[in-house]
Amino acid sequence: MKKILVTGGLGFIGSHTVVELQNEGFEVVIIDDLSNSSETVLEGITSITNKKPIFEKIDLKIKSSVEDFFKAHNDISGVIHFAASKAVGESVENPLLYYENNLNTLIYMLKEVLDLQESNFIFSSSCTVYGQADTMPITESAPVKPAESPYGNTKQIGEEIIVDTCKVNSNLNAIALRYFNPIGAHPSANIGELPIGVPQNLVPYITQTGAGLRDCLSVFGDDYPTSDGTCVRDYIHVVDLAKAHVIALQRLLNRKNDSNFETFNVGTGVGSTVLEVINAFEKVSNSSLNYKFAPRRKGDVVSAYANTTRANTVLGWKANSSLEDAMQSAWKWEQKIRNL
Ligand code: UD1
Repeated sequence: MKKILVTGGLGFIGSHTVVELQNEGFEVVIIDDLSNSSETVLEGITSITNKKPIFEKIDLKIKSSVEDFFKAHNDISGVIHFAASKAVGESVENPLLYYENNLNTLIYMLKEVLDLQESNFIFSSSCTVYGQADTMPITESAPVKPAESPYGNTKQIGEEIIVDTCKVNSNLNAIALRYFNPIGAHPSANIGELPIGVPQNLVPYITQTGAGLRDCLSVFGDDYPTSDGTCVRDYIHVVDLAKAHVIALQRLLNRKNDSNFETFNVGTGVGSTVLEVINAFEKVSNSSLNYKFAPRRKGDVVSAYANTTRANTVLGWKANSSLEDAMQSAWKWEQKIRNL
């Protein structure tokens, strides 16, 4: 049984990926510093898979802790590196925190991965690297645009660090997955998204409004050049996204990669407006959502959705869930954690 390290494995995408890895027979070791997650997620994972992953609470910013971890676990066959800070607004307020959290940790990890017998590395990247792309849907060859925030910049620089390291280390095999907008929860509703404080992202804000925790959703902008004036995004079910990680990892383990650094868009290929997301929520919850139009949010792009041809044909992965499926699971999870 291959042993896989998942950093940030108690977070939203990380926890769903741990479940899919265990389902495929991998042994999983989780590192998480619990800065934006909870140890109770371990119970959620275990209740789904009946296998408790190994968990170590480690702050990856402490280089010696990373080194000590790999001394004790030199039999790791692959690393999926989620651990990072992800709040765009916070990154503008505190850029050094983001550069330290997202880049120092990446560097320390890569140094250790290079010394493993099997140096396989999956990096959490983002469609944010494309900014407002000139053409839709966005292919992987679309130019990387100047980042709108330090958070976005850490994803761009992170990819560059990996590219440069791959160039001079042929034993290192890496894949950067550029996520579009992950939403939803495991169908069991035993794990899901746990935003701390007021959610910044659309779907948790919607479900919290539906659950009565928030009065009203503000829809940021109604005059964009889109079908209904609201922004378009590619919302992908987190379980589909989690599966993409397992397939990417298997590609590296089986040496099926075409080069030692590859990128893939991970989205559905379908663009949905904010109002379409609200409609999907209203349908699955059989309720009407309280929302109002508000000014545009600074930094928002008009439209971003993926061309998924490369992921479909080269990686052999495809999103299966619809927007409604994803909203249904997000709502089921919200109801469960609020005891509704
Ligand atoms: C954001 C980040 C992206 C990051 C992702 C992960 C920006 C510009 N992008 O994506 O880099 O990878 O989060 O967390 O911040 N909306 C509302 N009302 C709300 C919240 C959102 O109308 O209360 C709208 C937004 O204007 C946007 C859409 O919903 O059109 C999606 O927003 P959000 O969920 O925050 O994701 P992104 O901004 O696409």
